[in-house]
Amino acid sequence: MPNATVFPDKRLIAFFRKNLLEWSAQNPRPMPWKGERDPYKIWLSEIILQQTRVEQGLPYYQKFVAKYPEVGLLADAPEDELMKLWEGLGYYSRARNLHAAAKYISDELGGTFPNTYTDIRSLKGVGNYTAAAIASFGFGLPYAVLDGNVYRVLARFLGIETLTNIPAAQKQFAALAQAMLDPVKPAAHNQAIMDFGAIWCMPQQPRCTECPLRAECRAFMMDKVAELPLRSKALVKKKRLFHYLVFNHQGHVFVRKRTKKDIWRGLWEFPQTDGPVLASPLGLGELSVSKPFHQLLTHQAVTALFFEIYLPDNIPVEIFKNPLFEGCMRIARKELKKNIAFPKVIDCYLQNIVLTLD
Ligand code: ADE
Repeated sequence: MPNATVFPDKRLIAFFRKNLLEWSAQNPRPMPWKGERDPYKIWLSEIILQQTRVEQGLPYYQKFVAKYPEVGLLADAPEDELMKLWEGLGYYSRARNLHAAAKYISDELGGTFPNTYTDIRSLKGVGNYTAAAIASFGFGLPYAVLDGNVYRVLARFLGIETLTNIPAAQKQFAALAQAMLDPVKPAAHNQAIMDFGAIWCMPQQPRCTECPLRAECRAFMMDKVAELPLRSKALVKKKRLFHYLVFNHQGHVFVRKRTKKDIWRGLWEFPQTDGPVLASPLGLGELSVSKPFHQLLTHQAVTALFFEIYLPDNIPVEIFKNPLFEGCMRIARKELKKNIAFPKVIDCYLQNIVLTLD
């Protein structure tokens, strides 16, 4: 099949818009943020849904809206509280950016959400996709969303054979998405194309036999639905092994907040060592080692081992001046899960030892 660099013609665009909107009316997919006009809540939902499935994001959206019904309340929230509420969702830079943007809107814009695409796009953590979603859902502005679902629907419907997971594809698909967008009903169109990608034109086993776009779907005509969209080979994840020291003393453990500018900044952890330890690093107390715990991130495969050290009750307090405890807070084991957020790999470990936490 020749590569569809040719732009879709008017007739094809009209067919797509009409059938997509009709499909959407016949296949309602209720979600709490649908029909929402408050741009603050739309923004919250879209940040939560970045890299997250709707079913997973839904309870977080509800928690956030209940706790911070207005942007000023989110702006004033303590960072640890926000991170705790975000715990389990991953990609924590989203929570930090959300907080920074809320403070900006509250302090610099008097609490009024920006109402142009450019101003929305300039908020921290808001990329092209999220800006288009907020602009269209919140303000009825004609900006097309482009997410994984949209790539797939357009690649199939228009029969596009360029690789979609390389930066160069973005320009081509953004232009096509914009051309296909219904400028009269941008919000309904954007919502419909995302829903259609999610529940009809799925990656595996799409519902082609009952598809309203089938008569004009280039991939269907050429029997290429399963192949499209094309993707370059998956990237190889870097393997990381972390060794954590879990010092226990009188029912307490020692944790510290990560301040390094990386994906886990603002989360808490146990002190780390460079490699496995064979005896208690302080020459005191009993040592045991956990089973390995794993976490897959976009670019890394993390494995963590937890070296548990039980210090005798009556050790001299000077021990805690050892650099291993630098920056640490002493916290009762049973309080550990309550107020502070951990990376998922540590959280899995804590879930595993939950029986001994209280
Ligand atoms: N994913 C991100 N935003 C969404 C929305 N508004 N509806 C459905 N899926 C989404």
